[in-house]
Amino acid sequence: MPVPDPVAAEGKGHTVVEDAPLEGRNTFRVKARAHLLVDVRHADALPELFAQPALQSLPLLVLGEGSNLLFAGDWPGVVLAIAARGIRVLEEDDTGALVRVEAGENWDDVVRWSIGHGYAGLENLVMIPGTVGAAPIQNIGAYGVEVREFVHTVEAWDRTQSRLVRLDNAACAFGYRDSLFKQDPGRWIVTAVEFLLPRRREPRLGYAGIAEELAAIGMATNGDGGPTPLAIAEAISRLRTRKLPNPALIGNAGSFFKNPVVDADTAERLAATHPRLPQWAADDGLRKLSAAWLIEQAGFKGYRDGDAGISDQHALVLVNHGRASGADLLRVARHVATGVHARFGVKLEPEPRIVGASR
Ligand code: FAD
Ligand code: EPU
Repeated sequence: MPVPDPVAAEGKGHTVVEDAPLEGRNTFRVKARAHLLVDVRHADALPELFAQPALQSLPLLVLGEGSNLLFAGDWPGVVLAIAARGIRVLEEDDTGALVRVEAGENWDDVVRWSIGHGYAGLENLVMIPGTVGAAPIQNIGAYGVEVREFVHTVEAWDRTQSRLVRLDNAACAFGYRDSLFKQDPGRWIVTAVEFLLPRRREPRLGYAGIAEELAAIGMATNGDGGPTPLAIAEAISRLRTRKLPNPALIGNAGSFFKNPVVDADTAERLAATHPRLPQWAADDGLRKLSAAWLIEQAGFKGYRDGDAGISDQHALVLVNHGRASGADLLRVARHVATGVHARFGVKLEPEPRIVGASR
C-alpha cells in the first residue's frame, strides 16, 4: 500500500506532521509511523497544545532521540518531541553551581559543557546517547555513577494536572534504571532539568576497566594527583567505543535488558553453581547480576534470526542488522529471555520502552 506524503503544519512554537515516518528517529532504525508527530521548540507552547481536544484524547508518546525505545509497530496517537535547547547557570559559588538545561539538549553535549566549565561528576556518564529530558526517565547510569546524584529539580508538564510542576530529587523516586516518570508513561513531559554540579568531587574509578584505561592513556592529573574529569571521560569513551556497537553503524538501543536484581539467597545459590557470574551490590541489600554474562553463557552472543539478533560485540545488545522490524527484534528478545530463564531460572526484563502495536 503506498504511504501518503506527510502533511506538515506550523503552530506557535511547534510543528505538526501527520502520518510521520519514525525510522530516522529511533536508534534501532526500525520502520514505524506516528499518526501525528509534534516537534515542540519552546516548552511554553505546551499549554496551548494540550488545550486542543485531539491532543487530549489521543495516546501520547514523548520522544527524545529514540535511543531507548523499540517501536513494535506504528504509534496510533501523538508523538511529541521537545526540541527546546539551552544551558544556563542559575546560581554559583566556589563549591559548584545550579545549572538549568532544557529538555532538548543532547546529554553528551551537556557532559562536555560541564567538563569544559570546570565542574566534576558527570564525566562517568560521557557518551550516553539521548536528550537531557530523557535522562531522569530511567535515571541513566554508567561506570559507577547515576544521574540522580546530580539532579536537583525536574521541571515537567503534568498531563494529569494540566500544569507545569517542579519535582525535587526525592519526589522523582529514582532507582536503578527507574523513576516516577518511567512508572507512569504518558503522564509527564520533562521540559527542563536543574543539576547541582560540584567544582570538586572524589573521582569514581572503581568500575572495572577505568583504572587500566587511564593508565593506558597516561592519566592526566589534577592538583591532588588524581585524574581530571577530562581524563576520566576520555578513558570511559575509549571503553565504551570498544565495548558497545555504534548505533550509527548497526541499529541498537544499548543494553536491551536490565541487569537482574535478586535477593542475597538467590545470588548466593547462583554463585555456588556459577562462580564466574559477575555480581554487584544493589540497593536494600539486594544483588545485581550481569545479564550480559547470563546471555552469553546461554549461547546467544552473536545469535541471529534474519536481520534481528544479539550483538557479537556485547551480549546485552539487541541489534538490527538491516531490515528487522520491531516485531522481529521483540521475537529475538523473547527467545533470549526464555533461554536464559530455562538455563539459570533468572528473569530478564527489557530496559527500553516497547511501544506501538505489533504489525
Ligand atoms: P528516548 O529513547 O526517545 O525515550 C526513552 C524514554 O524516555 C521513553 O519512555 C520516552 O517516552 C521517555 N522520554 C524521552 N524524553 C522525554 C521527556 N522530555 N519527557 C518525558 N519522557 C521522555 N542508558 C544508560 O542509562 N546508560 C548507558 O550507558 C547507556 N548506553 C547506551 C548506549 C547506546 C549505544 C544506546 C543506543 C543507548 C544507551 N543507553 C544508555 C540508553 C539511552 O541512551 C538512554 O536511556 C537515554 O536517556 C535515552 O534518551 P532519548 O532522548 O534517546 O530517549
Ligand atoms: N559480559 C559478558 N559478555 C559480554 C559483555 C559483558 O559476559 O558480551 C560481562 C563481563 O563479565 C563484564 C560484565 O558483563 O564484566 C559487565 O559488562 P559491562 O561493563 O559492559 O556492563 P553491563 O552490565 O553489561 C551496564 C549498563 C550499561 C552501562 C555499563 C557500564 C545496564 C542494563 N547496562 O552494562 O548501560 O553502560 O553497565 O556502566 O545496567 C544501557 O543502559 O543501555 C547501557 C549501555
